[in-house]
Amino acid sequence: MSTHNVWTHKGTFLLAAVGSAVGLGNLWRFPYLAGENGGGAFILIYALTIFAVGIPILIAETMLGRASRRSPIMGMQFLTRTHKTSRAWVSIGWMGAAAAFLILSFYSVIAGWALHYTWLMLTGTLVGADAATIASGFDALLASPGLLTLYHTLFIIASGVIVGMGIHKGIESGLRIMMPALFVILLVVLAYGIANGDFAAAASFLFTFNLGDLSLEGWLEAMGQSFFTLSLGMGAIMAYGAYMASDASLSRTAFAVAFVDTAVAMVAGLAIFSLVFGAGLDAAAGPGLMFVTLPLAFAEMPFGGLIGGVFFILVLGAAISSSISLIEPVAAFLVERFDLTRPQAVFAMVVASWALGLLTVVSFNLWAEASLFHTLFGRSAFDLIELLTNILMPLGGLLIALFAGWALTQSEVMKEMRTSEAWFQVWRFLVRFVAPAAVAFVFLRTIPLVEGYLLPAIGALIIVGAFAAGRTMLAGSGQAQ
Ligand code: PHE
Repeated sequence: MSTHNVWTHKGTFLLAAVGSAVGLGNLWRFPYLAGENGGGAFILIYALTIFAVGIPILIAETMLGRASRRSPIMGMQFLTRTHKTSRAWVSIGWMGAAAAFLILSFYSVIAGWALHYTWLMLTGTLVGADAATIASGFDALLASPGLLTLYHTLFIIASGVIVGMGIHKGIESGLRIMMPALFVILLVVLAYGIANGDFAAAASFLFTFNLGDLSLEGWLEAMGQSFFTLSLGMGAIMAYGAYMASDASLSRTAFAVAFVDTAVAMVAGLAIFSLVFGAGLDAAAGPGLMFVTLPLAFAEMPFGGLIGGVFFILVLGAAISSSISLIEPVAAFLVERFDLTRPQAVFAMVVASWALGLLTVVSFNLWAEASLFHTLFGRSAFDLIELLTNILMPLGGLLIALFAGWALTQSEVMKEMRTSEAWFQVWRFLVRFVAPAAVAFVFLRTIPLVEGYLLPAIGALIIVGAFAAGRTMLAGSGQAQ
């Protein structure tokens, strides 16, 4: 039961993958993480990981999608069958689906905050407001389960409707309107930041590299962020890859996606920090950077309400073009496996994820600090769900790298990649060894107490595991290369 669907144009995969990649990760998470971790040093590690690990895995994941032309779970069942490898590799599909479902649940709640701020900005509510008013406004939003649920519901319905309309009429058409508009808005906001803010301070903050600024935690955050921002390891890219034209170049597309995604994060960072420094505010505000610090900067600047409104529309659009890529892999699976219609499949996925999202909603109010949940798990439901996705995404990326690196034959890969032998060798070395080692490192982030010796030990374990996996697969398929 292959999906047989292919994007209408050769370039649509690029558009869709960029849509998936560019999201809250670029506009909200990247700037605040860079702000908390000393700017330039964080960006250096982030960029290195994107190139050495992100791009190879991006190629691998797209390849698995296009080679199977099925949704991730069905696709991995197909590939394990045709390559005579263990069925355990189908876990790539299942873990991806689980991660997509978990990410969507909180992604939609946070995107909902942007809905609230779009409204506040466009109605001019915050114009001239002082720091205390804006901060207490954000706290009041988080304290209201009703408001949070309302925005969460609106956002997830909008995403569901687009995916429910199908990959051509819904996803493709939606992206074709949204993405160019987003780039224009981003440039408008950058121009505004340059005109009204302190661009020089922003540039020197982001591009002064001082590795000494970076803690181990900062390293791990940078690497985790590079996975999240490229939408890797959870089936979104694989699902989109299944619709990619056979003659579109995998490597070139992957480089383009990574380049645009990184460029958007940098431009957003420059724009946001220009405004933040221009208003004399603190870069290290954490998750509140976009929702407290930035609104304050807009409140003090000419036409701040209007440009602020436009900025939050950008955030919303970028978030929707990502959330649809979280729905697609699971919806496509339900259609293929249970013969549901697309609207039914989307409905099932969205309702379940919406319900789980209520846990994130109450994490900020009813079930914050002192609740039973907090006592049982030592953290809020939101933090727990985020932690789970921080484990599932790198793990998925690791398995994808190993499967593509060891199970696929050279001729198969060459046919997909259409590149030189030399680049193939580089890619395969990266997915066989470098990516697994890097992922081992990212995992440390999820271990609360990292002792010095754990780092090399876990790294070594994963590399040995990579070898073992590779050998078994090559033995099983008889396709040693
Ligand atoms: N890449 C998206 C962002 O940066 C988030 C995302 C992760 C989307 C995984 C899909 C899959 O916001």
